[in-house]
Amino acid sequence: MRAFLQCIEADCQSVFDVGEKVYVCERCGGLLDVNYDFAEIDPQQLKTVWDGRRASLEPLDISGVWRFREMIPFVSDLSLVTTMFEGNTPVYTAPRCAEYTGLKRLLLKHQGLNPTGSFKDNGMTTGITQARALGARVVACASTGNTSASVAAYAARAGMTAVIFIPGGQIAYGKLSQSLEYGAKTLQIEGDFDEAMRLVLELSRETDLYLLNSINAFRLEGQKTIVIEMFQQLGWRAPDRVVVPGGNLGNSSAIGKGIKELYDLGIIDKMPMVTIIQAHGSNPLYRTLVSSDASKLIRVPHPKTLATAIKIGNPVSWQKAVRAMDWTRGWCDEVTEQEIADAKAIIGRDGIGCEPASATTVAGIRKLIEIGEIDKDEEVVAILTGNLLKDPDYTINYHLDSLYEKATYRNELIEKKDKIRSTFANPPIKTRADKEEIKQLLNL
Ligand code: F0G
Repeated sequence: MRAFLQCIEADCQSVFDVGEKVYVCERCGGLLDVNYDFAEIDPQQLKTVWDGRRASLEPLDISGVWRFREMIPFVSDLSLVTTMFEGNTPVYTAPRCAEYTGLKRLLLKHQGLNPTGSFKDNGMTTGITQARALGARVVACASTGNTSASVAAYAARAGMTAVIFIPGGQIAYGKLSQSLEYGAKTLQIEGDFDEAMRLVLELSRETDLYLLNSINAFRLEGQKTIVIEMFQQLGWRAPDRVVVPGGNLGNSSAIGKGIKELYDLGIIDKMPMVTIIQAHGSNPLYRTLVSSDASKLIRVPHPKTLATAIKIGNPVSWQKAVRAMDWTRGWCDEVTEQEIADAKAIIGRDGIGCEPASATTVAGIRKLIEIGEIDKDEEVVAILTGNLLKDPDYTINYHLDSLYEKATYRNELIEKKDKIRSTFANPPIKTRADKEEIKQLLNL
């Protein structure tokens, strides 16, 4: 048996065929992993093969996911692969962010430079490929916006129909515009992400819809390659720590699994600590970890944050995220809306930029250095998950000194409360179209 689905519950570990359409364990309801028999792998030779593929012109080698296909061997027929050459995202040095956090050096891996502007594409290429292998015609997801953009694009590429469930009025416009443009059937649900998630999971089990949320273990296999590519970019050296935002907790889970597998295979010689950062108003994992009984999730019934991507109170993959932290001696913390907003502006000043959820990472690193949890000499890589252009309203409001934690819009802003300070505001300057005035203004 080369690839198989396996329940993660220690006292169950039931195994299912990868050809079956199952999302959770049919025996105990536990989450599933895609596992493999990796026995024949030679780590040194593999690294050489993967490095060699960076010069190749073959689509599967160009993809920053399928380049590492030996780590995700769940489809035997590679002609089923739908790729948009995802991954291939840069690792940047970020001197201003480093100074802001107190680190000597900070690296940012910018997943927002993927084809649809978020890390979801790494997982969608594997998810949609499995959908094709199972003969699915209609794929679905619940989403705070990025998953839906990615599902919509990859479904279009694969000639499938995408049905997406989004919380009405709660996703950033950049993301909504993508799903509409890529032709997805877009259902705006009266309710939040957690409700949309419950609904689409039930529908996927009762009908032919194929679910592409991160509860789908094949999607997480693609996201695993985010860290494989990162190690490759660092010359197969493992940093001390990888910091990632936490929402539905699929990405942190995938990153943890990737790190563990590479370590067990001898491809890396130490495991970076997986550090997950949540927004204070949407912090179920943080609440759970600091509670007396970390074996039961403490949900957040009405999650709040302007980082809408991670506005999630009942994360599906929380047990896998806990496992990732256990494996790697990682931790989870939370940051405020003010901390997110300022960190985002600083990331921008490095010429990089990201959407609000991604900025939890830099905000979290700053906080963890302040409290002594991170050492300033550590080598840290923060994963920026989404592109700056996903949520322009947030950025504009910050720079116009008009960002509020609670804002109600009905065509226009009708209520605003709890202002966020625009510490690093860079507002536009109004001027007449007059050369002399402009010269004066710019000291020319
Ligand atoms: N950052 C961004 C930009 C996201 O879109 C998400 C999740 C996360 C971080 C959190 O990742 O859920 O794996 O813990 N967005 C999902 C969506 C929920 O529907 O697009 P996670």
